[in-house]
Amino acid sequence: MNENTPEVLISEEDIRSRVLQLAEQISVDYADGIDLVMVGVLKGSVIFLADLARGLSIPRTIEFIAVSSYGDSNVSSGAVRLVMDVRGNIEGKHVLIVEDIVDTGHTLKYLIGMMKSHRPASIKTAALVRKADKAEVDVTVDYLGFDIGDEWVVGYGLDYAEQNRTLPYIGVIKPPDA
Ligand code: PRP
Repeated sequence: MNENTPEVLISEEDIRSRVLQLAEQISVDYADGIDLVMVGVLKGSVIFLADLARGLSIPRTIEFIAVSSYGDSNVSSGAVRLVMDVRGNIEGKHVLIVEDIVDTGHTLKYLIGMMKSHRPASIKTAALVRKADKAEVDVTVDYLGFDIGDEWVVGYGLDYAEQNRTLPYIGVIKPPDA
């Protein structure tokens, strides 16, 4: 390991088994025959979504949306704007919004509100990690991988300045000014 390799916070094996647990639970919870659409939030959710979707034992489709925060890219201003909406018709379907990380919660709260305009049968949320201490708004994560502290995490979809997204584990890096 060289000094640029992020320290392991959550191992590849721990992620794999937790994602499979979540997939099993989701497969049970959505067994009512109504179509399930997993809506991934670009870009961070891509790897989690891919593994979660493939772990399901029920039919599902996938869609993607993209959002952008106003202001400084590393400090959430709380204002979110939609950059790309879903392509398919999700009216009357179960929507499961899939995020890599919930930090302040502003993005997920905005997305839940935005998704309602598509008139789905239901809206629930999944996130790989959540920084519980950073929450600024009350938002429910129905399927949560792991609660973590206020650390700079990368890997398994999470990036810092686009680096380390494809690490197979979740690692911790030092803040750039540390
Ligand atoms: C991250 C993450 C969420 C959002 C969470 O996205 O994927 O969408 O921040 O932050 P919040 O809870 O404070 O609103 P990011 O802007 O880093 O984009 P990316 O997924 O493309 O890396």
